[in-house]
Amino acid sequence: MAFPATRPRRLRQNDKFRRLVRETNIAVDDLVWPLFAVPGHGIREEISSLPGNYHLSIDCLVDESKRARDLGIPAILLFGVPDPCDKDERASKAYCPNGLVQKAVRALKAHVPGLLVITDVCLCEYTPHAHCGILEKGYLMNDASLDVLAKTAVSHAEAGCDMVAPAAMLDGQIQTLRHSLDLHGYSNLPIMAYSAKYASKLYDPFFKEGTQSALAHGDKKTHQMSFANSDEAMREIALDVEEGADIIMVKPGLFYLDVVYRAKQEFQMPLAVYNVSGEFAMIDAAARMGRLDKCAVVFEALSCFKRAGADIIISYFAPMAAECLERGWKSF
Ligand code: PBG
Ligand code: ZN
Repeated sequence: MAFPATRPRRLRQNDKFRRLVRETNIAVDDLVWPLFAVPGHGIREEISSLPGNYHLSIDCLVDESKRARDLGIPAILLFGVPDPCDKDERASKAYCPNGLVQKAVRALKAHVPGLLVITDVCLCEYTPHAHCGILEKGYLMNDASLDVLAKTAVSHAEAGCDMVAPAAMLDGQIQTLRHSLDLHGYSNLPIMAYSAKYASKLYDPFFKEGTQSALAHGDKKTHQMSFANSDEAMREIALDVEEGADIIMVKPGLFYLDVVYRAKQEFQMPLAVYNVSGEFAMIDAAARMGRLDKCAVVFEALSCFKRAGADIIISYFAPMAAECLERGWKSF
């Protein structure tokens, strides 16, 4: 039926109608906040490119995590930023039982009950060249790196993490981790797979300031995907699902909403999207320059992730969004 019988504006005439017919909502339940642990004590240094996000020694990480929990954020995604002298070619500190992440997880589980601790499982923070695994003649060795990733995931599980998030984009990493976790008695520990992870320049703030793991040479194009492709993303996700992923992920987010949409349509799996550091930096910088209304644009971005099909949004904006929601922010 056409105009004048049909007038779509009838249901937009005030916020009550708009609320009633709204198709997606942002709740604090959807948010995961990435946090960065550093060695030391009493350290809470703002990450220059990610304002509102900090390098946190474990004591301060506990306080920040309590803040997250008290805001209602269900989960944090934990990254370790180890001392440069704790990096070696074989990434041996990644799976050290007394490593930074392992200690941080134990502290969080002891002092912040009621918050899920998800650990990022990758080796780039633990190798001097910052590649995601073991190199041979500059090439990232797949199967040799899988062994180390599996040991790392098990060490996180032993420390008590609630979920592991393998990030290296190596072939067979989900199967390898699932197998090792099961073998060590962690068959109930879920895996959130960075399934469709693109080789993106939007990770620069994360590398340069976040984890201080900028590549010494080369790039990640032999394992992360080309931004030109989306069929390939579906094949990657299909493999991860088959290998036992509990949650799949698309990363980055805002330029990749078509991939998010396809992933949800084709797999009907719990789907996470990573609103990465470069996306944060763009919005934050524009807001600082007075060009954008930060809260409004953040809620627009978060809503669009959900509209595209994401169930879970990993974002450096998580605490800000949670505070806005707590204050009764309305975006309809
Ligand atoms: C890998 C990892 C990266 C990010 C999260 N986990 C870097 C990479 O995959 O190359 C990037 C996150 C961001 O930019 O916010 N450990
Ligand atoms: Zn990595």
